[in-house]
Amino acid sequence: MSDGSRPITPLRVVFVSAEASRVAQVGGLADATAGLVNKLRQLGVDVHLIVPDYGGVELDDEIREPLPMPTGSGPAFARHGHRRGLGAVTLISAPGIARPHPYLDPHTGQGWTDNNERFLGFCAAAAALIELDQPDIVHLNDWHSAPIISWLEPPRCTVLTIHNLAHQGVMPASLAHLLGPRREAFERHGELNALAGAITLADLVVTVSPSYAAEITRPSGGNGLEDLLHARADTLVGIRNGIEPDEWRPDRDLRLPASFDGTDLAGKRACRRMLLERAGLGPVDNRPVIGMVARLTEQKGVDIALALTAQVEAFGARLVLVGDGDRTLWRHAEATQRQYATTMRALPFEDRTAHLVVAGSDLLLMPSRFEPCGLPQMQAMLSGTIPVVTGVGGLRDTVIDADLRPAAGTGFVARDPTVASVGDALERARRAWADRPRRAAIQQRGMALDWSWQQPAKAVIGCYQRVRGHVEAPGGAPSDVIDLTHLPAPARDREGSRRDTRLPARPMLR
Ligand code: GLC
Repeated sequence: MSDGSRPITPLRVVFVSAEASRVAQVGGLADATAGLVNKLRQLGVDVHLIVPDYGGVELDDEIREPLPMPTGSGPAFARHGHRRGLGAVTLISAPGIARPHPYLDPHTGQGWTDNNERFLGFCAAAAALIELDQPDIVHLNDWHSAPIISWLEPPRCTVLTIHNLAHQGVMPASLAHLLGPRREAFERHGELNALAGAITLADLVVTVSPSYAAEITRPSGGNGLEDLLHARADTLVGIRNGIEPDEWRPDRDLRLPASFDGTDLAGKRACRRMLLERAGLGPVDNRPVIGMVARLTEQKGVDIALALTAQVEAFGARLVLVGDGDRTLWRHAEATQRQYATTMRALPFEDRTAHLVVAGSDLLLMPSRFEPCGLPQMQAMLSGTIPVVTGVGGLRDTVIDADLRPAAGTGFVARDPTVASVGDALERARRAWADRPRRAAIQQRGMALDWSWQQPAKAVIGCYQRVRGHVEAPGGAPSDVIDLTHLPAPARDREGSRRDTRLPARPMLR
């Protein structure tokens, strides 16, 4: 690093993810991919982003290219082009990849029955493209792209980011022929495990917060992979995700009905009013509004939130849940809504609604059982919405309990993911909220924090350099740069605009 922000020679990185905002979004993976890639490019890294082509996405300046596939695998194509807000991207279609939803069959609510074959085919095609590209680094994300590493023979410099250990790509051993020559590392307990293979073979394993990195190496903390993760402890790094200020700062977010910042919260009151109207939970009075934005999964503690509805009603608050996912949880939410019709509302996930809930609520609830990073708590703090979270993973790294540390507190942290413990945190938050000067101080502290990708992206560049054998990295070796949790206040990311980077030059495209 010469000036601490630009690599001396531009690194060429192929970055592969199953999701990226503006081309394919299911959860936080899409935001994390787009946010990190945008920032890496601003910092001078030459990133070639590859995402599966699920269909229905138009690209500007499109170039189509057939990809060489192993015999019997069926045809694969790459579409290289640009997408506004994301820049250069390559979408790869392999047999069965194009579907109305990346992972789930809308008719059953379950995963597509051929998900293993779909993503293994995608990985073989992506590996072919990587061989043509000859990048300095290959950066894989989660199990869907992890099998790429089985094809990299001779091995290339690789980084694997784990966004969620609950999804590992466990599949029958009979699919081994769809992996590349380094398939042995994927064998585990008589089956294949996509994530385990990449954890074993990657040069560096990153996960999305320092606390989650520590939790997953503890006994029973790593969804059955703790032995592998523990063995990699010296090459396992925790870097918390960022969020994109242009998307989430309430003075820049064009989806909101009114804009605001820490100096004047009038716009927040307008957002709150619209939220109550949209949810049909009026009147607009002083009773606190608790928001929750989550994929409906066991992980997110939706059942804990629903079990707390009686308490929410008892203290005269209201709860708005926005999400989609598990059908049983959705039915549970609907039943709770019928029982507490003036207190609770469940709304299907929709981007604008999610932004309105984050900006317009008074408190944001995240009772997660585990949370690799979590993004809504950071989004909420930027809007003066006070987070009430469980003390796990990235939530623990980003929210400071205002009772434990009154001068620094930015929210409320429950000790355990249980109804009793989260209920206690919610009650503590309600008391603080009712105390106007205290409420304002907590809001102001949260709004002044810098959750941009600037520091996390620099730490990722440090990882790339470590993998390439450089010792020099911003702020020292990655072990020194991993703790990016409580960044000093007020520095906000002012870079804002995104550069539309051109496609990386490749021999076949010239
Ligand atoms: C997954 C995790 C979440 C994380 C996101 C992006 O969705 O559950 O905690 O923030 O990935 O890394």
